[in-house]
Amino acid sequence: MRKLAAGNWKMNGTAEDLAEVSALITAHPAPGCEMLLCPPATLLSRMADIAAGSALMVGGQNCHAKASGAHTGDISADMLKEAGATHVILGHSERRADHAETDIAVRAKTMAAQAAGLTAIVCVGETEAQRNAGETLLVIGAQLAGSLPVKLTGAVDGLVVAYEPVWAIGTGRTPTLKEVGEVHAFIRAALVERYGETARAIRLLYGGSVKPSNAADIFAVPHVNGALVGGASLKASDFGPIVAALAKA
Ligand code: 13P
Repeated sequence: MRKLAAGNWKMNGTAEDLAEVSALITAHPAPGCEMLLCPPATLLSRMADIAAGSALMVGGQNCHAKASGAHTGDISADMLKEAGATHVILGHSERRADHAETDIAVRAKTMAAQAAGLTAIVCVGETEAQRNAGETLLVIGAQLAGSLPVKLTGAVDGLVVAYEPVWAIGTGRTPTLKEVGEVHAFIRAALVERYGETARAIRLLYGGSVKPSNAADIFAVPHVNGALVGGASLKASDFGPIVAALAKA
């Protein structure tokens, strides 16, 4: 399975930050794993131009479930694709929290993204209160059940699942490696139960305070097939070593 190092720039980055993209490509011309950056929509096409012909792919951070229409401020999957995206992050906890995105909405977006030929990176993860209450697997099981398409249509690499514990995002805190392994094994089993043996090839990413200093340990955990990186994806000097660690894992 080809591993994936994905960066989520969130609402960060203006034109001057594109220098980081060139630096990343120069440092990792053929990284040995897939490498993806998801900038704000305003930078997508310019980043895609810089990445053209390199090993770097670019993606969106959200899309609408409909192809077009009266949806002020929204972007369709086809629009992302036209701007140069190959992937889109969907159901990130920040969108679930800030925009009240439900599992059903995330599923509709996922199907729209795949219909447009984009790889959907669907995010799941528990809050700290849910973990403390012992509800982690229950919550993640329900998110998977509701957010993923009922059937796996198209290529198996058109779906990626990212496990991002909400309490680990941007906090510098991470679950133990054992906890990461438990959740990833649970997600793998749930996907196999839902889609059959082919689901063993679906990439599972860990996200939440991944840094150069902890990346190699996280990548050694079974069923961790890459990372979804926030803050440490903004600088080539941070993201590059994470990409290199994944390529070596
Ligand atoms: P941090 O890497 O900044 O914790 O963010 C993780 C994340 O939310 C990626 O989508």
